Amino acid sequence: MFRPLSLLIINISKHNVASQIKYSTAILPRLSSEKYNIKRKSFGTINESDINHFRSILSENRVITDESDVLPYNIDWIKNCRGQSKVVLKPKTTDEVSEVLSYCNSKKLAVCPQGGNTGLVGGSVPVFDEIVLNFSLMNKVISLDDISGALVCEAGCVLENLDNYVRQHNLIMPLDLGAKGSCHIGGNVSTNAGGLRLLRYGNLHGSILGLEAVKADGTVIDCLRTLKKDNTGYHLKHLFIGSEGTLGVVTKVAVHCPAVSKAVSLGYFGVNTFEDVLQLYRNAKISLGEILSAFEMADNRAICSTVKNLKLTNPLEDYPFYVLIETSGCDEEHDSEKLNRFLSKEMESGHIIDGTVTSEPAKMRTIWNIRENIAEAGLHDGYVFKYDVSIPLNNYYDIVLLLRKKLEGKYTNIYGYGHIGDGNIHINVTVPEYSKEVCDMLEPYIFEQVAKLKGSISAEHGVGFRKPQFIHYSKDESALRLMKDLKHLMDPNGILNPYKVLPDV
Ligand SMILES: Cc1cc2nc3c(=O)[nH]c(=O)nc-3n(C[C@H](O)[C@H](O)[C@H](O)COP(=O)(O)OP(=O)(O)OC[C@H]3O[C@@H](n4cnc5c(N)ncnc54)[C@H](O)[C@@H]3O)c2cc1C
Ligand SMILES: *[C@@H]1O[C@H](CO)[C@@H](O)[C@H](O)[C@H]1NC(C)=O
Ligand SMILES: *[C@@H]1O[C@H](CO)[C@@H](O)[C@H](O)[C@H]1NC(C)=O
Ligand SMILES: *[C@@H]1O[C@H](CO)[C@@H](O)[C@H](O)[C@H]1NC(C)=O
Repeated sequence: MFRPLSLLIINISKHNVASQIKYSTAILPRLSSEKYNIKRKSFGTINESDINHFRSILSENRVITDESDVLPYNIDWIKNCRGQSKVVLKPKTTDEVSEVLSYCNSKKLAVCPQGGNTGLVGGSVPVFDEIVLNFSLMNKVISLDDISGALVCEAGCVLENLDNYVRQHNLIMPLDLGAKGSCHIGGNVSTNAGGLRLLRYGNLHGSILGLEAVKADGTVIDCLRTLKKDNTGYHLKHLFIGSEGTLGVVTKVAVHCPAVSKAVSLGYFGVNTFEDVLQLYRNAKISLGEILSAFEMADNRAICSTVKNLKLTNPLEDYPFYVLIETSGCDEEHDSEKLNRFLSKEMESGHIIDGTVTSEPAKMRTIWNIRENIAEAGLHDGYVFKYDVSIPLNNYYDIVLLLRKKLEGKYTNIYGYGHIGDGNIHINVTVPEYSKEVCDMLEPYIFEQVAKLKGSISAEHGVGFRKPQFIHYSKDESALRLMKDLKHLMDPNGILNPYKVLPDV
């Protein structure tokens, strides 16, 4: 039966984004424009009088031009992309954002909106000299209705702070991402971020009740309603959710916050085959019903290299697959009875070989830490090629096996982990250092295979700078044409986050 969880975990250090950036400045990534052979589009070039104008809108200390101060804003979280921006602006209000954009549009100066800069597809850093907009100073909560659960706040609020705030009112944020200590709600909305609880709370297109955004020409679009139901014409907020800063800058959002769950349990299990993982998922949905809140899987190599690289302790022995199942409900006795009944059955049938279950917050944290740190651990192996795709569940794990075969002898490690409930798998290919040879073997091979399996080449991280040339694997020509028409309508000069999302013709 289940061994009680007796963990000795020393020093789970969560490297934050700031320390990642400091690290990356020591070994500067190559300029994105050179690495990917991109030509600068014919935007205006910023001069002294532009800088002075920004100073008049924002005041001196919110216009950053010192080269070494600007550097971190040019480098992305995974140290793959580096831009050449010379100016960072830090607006405090929607009016300031509007004034800045209106000016940039009139001078055809390109801009790159940046939230927590935790994006993984290069969308949040400039490619050439785009002006970076940092929203950290737009971090105020505007209102919270603790009956409906509607939270209204500015775009630069850090997710973790919002979560702490709404918890005082027995509510939670409907998302919980691996990067929550750094990411901004505006960045989340702009990427339609998914995460660990999408299975339970759905994606942001459902949870965002309304928003305020600024168009390229400075026009403020007010869709900041807090209603759950509002079928009055086109659902414009959805244009900004997931458009990665290419259609407008999100300045305020209204989010629906669900009630906090009083009884939470987390199980961590060793499983023999991927087929068993799928059976377990199907049975969990049936037997756990409304209390199932997360169902995650990671393969042996994902867990083992994370545990090794970050000096964590794996509470279980070696198994081909690991599964995390979380339940969240409101009645501890009722929920744990349900969970125990389900687990005994699954152990009897052999879908689960070994495992551990806990309701103690500290122990649950320990288990989640292993899962959440998979994303970071790869950085210790050298260079990581990361892919984030969704694939229909029957073929979900095939892609890892295909890649291991294709890249035989060329990689340190290839592993898959992700959100089974959402058909979303993350694949990491680690190599001692970046190599064009490996890159060319991987791309577009992986995207072709995903398209063949009827999947999406970007499940949750977006298209950003890294994937526009591959978007056709997931979007039909007719859909791409409409995307371009919308872009042209909303940003005729193309100043908002250029070189991202849309492929050049
Ligand atoms: C450790 C780790 C774990 C992660 N886990 C998940 C996960 O589980 N699920 C998931 O979906 N993602 C995940 N991500 C990816 C990333 O964190 C998300 O995409 C997140 O939503 C980005 O938020 P951000 O504030 O950092 O945005 P940034 O990275 O700064 O920006 C992302 C994009 O949004 C645009 N943008 C930012 N702010 C605005 C704004 N106010 N208006 C308009 N455009 C804007 C940028 O131009 C860019 O294109 C993870 C990342 C890391 C590093
Ligand atoms: C944005 O500015 C704030 C301070 O104003 C800073 O703490 C933060 O690190 C900046 N964001 C990024 C991604 O550098
Ligand atoms: C925003 O994204 C971050 C990082 O990806 C995630 O941790 C967080 O939960 C998201 N916040 C919301 C409200 O979705
Ligand atoms: C795997 O890739 C993610 C991004 O998808 C990255 O953040 C993480 O560090 C990688 N993890 C490992 C163990 O390589």
